[in-house]
Amino acid sequence: MKYLITGGAGFIGSNFIHYLFDKYPEIEIINLDKLTYAGNLDNLKKFSAESGSASGGENYRYKFVKGDIADAELVNKLVRQVDVVVNFAAESHVDRSILDPAVFIKTNVLGTQVLLEAAHKNGKKRFHHVSTDEVYGSISLDSDEKWTEESPYQPRSLYSASKAASDHLVRAYFHTFGLPVTISNCANNLGPYMYPEKFISLAITNLLEGKKVPVYGEGKQVREWLHVEDHYVAIDLILEKGKVGETYFVGPPDEDRPNNLETIKKLLKIMNLPEDRIEFVKDRPGHDVKYAMNTSKIRKELGFTPKYSLDETLKKTVEWYQTNIEWWQKIKGSPEYKNYYDQQYAKR
Ligand SMILES: NC(=O)c1ccc[n+]([C@@H]2O[C@H](COP(=O)([O-])OP(=O)(O)OC[C@H]3O[C@@H](n4cnc5c(N)ncnc54)[C@H](O)[C@@H]3O)[C@@H](O)[C@H]2O)c1
Repeated sequence: MKYLITGGAGFIGSNFIHYLFDKYPEIEIINLDKLTYAGNLDNLKKFSAESGSASGGENYRYKFVKGDIADAELVNKLVRQVDVVVNFAAESHVDRSILDPAVFIKTNVLGTQVLLEAAHKNGKKRFHHVSTDEVYGSISLDSDEKWTEESPYQPRSLYSASKAASDHLVRAYFHTFGLPVTISNCANNLGPYMYPEKFISLAITNLLEGKKVPVYGEGKQVREWLHVEDHYVAIDLILEKGKVGETYFVGPPDEDRPNNLETIKKLLKIMNLPEDRIEFVKDRPGHDVKYAMNTSKIRKELGFTPKYSLDETLKKTVEWYQTNIEWWQKIKGSPEYKNYYDQQYAKR
């Protein structure tokens, strides 16, 4: 089986590539990634060494192609060579979508359409689109509501609006052209290779550097956290057993729903650090209050059970950042990262 993985040099995509290679000895993968600030070939060092060439030759099981999913000519050439397309490529950080919305539309909306068109034109290739729970909007704190796959889309951030648009395009290619698509909408992920600017990876790395942890507002927002392993196993299961045209929610085991402040306190406890390491900063504009998904569909229909509790997920993630200091220090030491960090937190 030949896969085109887009965004495979990012956090979740690179974890998925590692998993596929370990699980399927015959697999062939083309990884198409633009290498934005979030794309990092250090996440895939193993494959460059094994295949002998990160840029790939004719005889490859893994081939890396640097390029843009919005480049129709390139995308057509690559899609023609594969059986399955899995689309991870995206601008993925809400904070950055406030600073520069246009690139979110170009990659997340136009880029997804270019991929869909290529999958359609080249023999209706199987297409899986990786999306987020954030497209469903925000739930009030005092509500017990949980979204289902049938809930209306109500995105509120520029990131979630662009992801919502991409999901609609995926569904439209199914209904209009019969393209065999599936979509997964997932909770926030944690785990290896998570770029150290997102809430928890920033918190862990700041704590390891002896710095404080920025928490937006009063930290009352409620999020669902899933270990990345549970996410990529679910995607593989959807590709194997999912019904085309369907959307599946992927979320953590039911019991753990702390707010952001409580989550950071759990983290501090795991790392044996005092609570005065928390620093409250000015809230993000339009910050979604709460996400909550009812994930019974994937459990009942595909037999998926997430493996890790929140405590286990946090512990495993802390351990990874403690043992891979070089990986994240290289990123945090880069001018791009410092520039972003100053812009984001200096005046808060
Ligand atoms: N991280 C999460 O918690 C989470 C949760 C739910 C859904 N998702 C979705 O999962 C997917 C992957 O998220 P992530 O956290 O790994 O993101 P990430 O930001 O770590 O990685 C994104 C990757 O896409 C690449 N990319 C960006 N623009 C591109 C373009 N135009 N062409 C080709 N490649 C491009 C980047 O270089 C990077 O390697 C995204 O679609 C995101 O919306 C993420």
